[in-house]
Amino acid sequence: MSVHNPQLVKRITTHVLQAMKERGERISMLTAYDYSMAKIVDDAGIDIILVGDSASNVMAGHETTLPITLDQMIYHAASVVRAVSRAFVVVDLPFGSYQGNSKEALVSAIRIMKESGAHAVKLEGGIEIKESIIRILTAGVPVMGHLGLTPQSIYKFGTYGVRAKEEQEAQRLIDDAKLLEEIGCFSIVLEKIPALLGKQVAESVSIPIIGIGAGQHVDGQVLVLHDLLGITKDFNPRFLRRYLNLYDDIKGAVSRYVEDVKTRDFPNEKEQY
Ligand code: KIV
Repeated sequence: MSVHNPQLVKRITTHVLQAMKERGERISMLTAYDYSMAKIVDDAGIDIILVGDSASNVMAGHETTLPITLDQMIYHAASVVRAVSRAFVVVDLPFGSYQGNSKEALVSAIRIMKESGAHAVKLEGGIEIKESIIRILTAGVPVMGHLGLTPQSIYKFGTYGVRAKEEQEAQRLIDDAKLLEEIGCFSIVLEKIPALLGKQVAESVSIPIIGIGAGQHVDGQVLVLHDLLGITKDFNPRFLRRYLNLYDDIKGAVSRYVEDVKTRDFPNEKEQY
């Protein structure tokens, strides 16, 4: 197994990701939605940056991912692409831009690729969106699948709980993963499913499986950047590891700034012209 060294690979591609799966090297993936964060994340050696529709939650403050528009996704994606020199950039097709109409799906994917400069798109779902995925792939656009908990279907599920705990749903998920591989997806995100099922899926397909709450046996891991950094405070699922507590750190810094302005401590003599 190779030692992690971001300098070894100049630019991550679908081929590099496939080779990582084949030699058992774990794939790291994080979300980013803006230039400044994407620059830091890329510089730190992340393999994949996902411009997720979770921007609807963490950037825009919506309760679900449903309201974000294609134009807004393109804005976020273009900002990220401008910052990135190594990572592979994947962009979520937002709710309503691909379901049920493969022509519209293709138009949406092409807009993302042309207007943002991203490298691939991600779509939520299995057999029910097969035609849309095939059409996008036919245009030469790499597609990442997304199975398990698919937040764009939250009103169908009714909860953000663990998916595919029952045999029937687990089998459907495995079938969907095999189908996504067969039609040409380069990778699949598995969200919030039992770890054993994650292992089974990763072993059943040859493309990289990236998990979020899918256990330790899949080929890579993804988290929402704002969760990992502790900017979101009230979201505490079991699968989340927080590396910082930035909500409190930023709040503390802003409080000190407010205090310094009010007390006329800032700016001091050295901080003016
Ligand atoms: O939008 C997003 O952030 C995602 C991840 C949770 C995988 O799809």
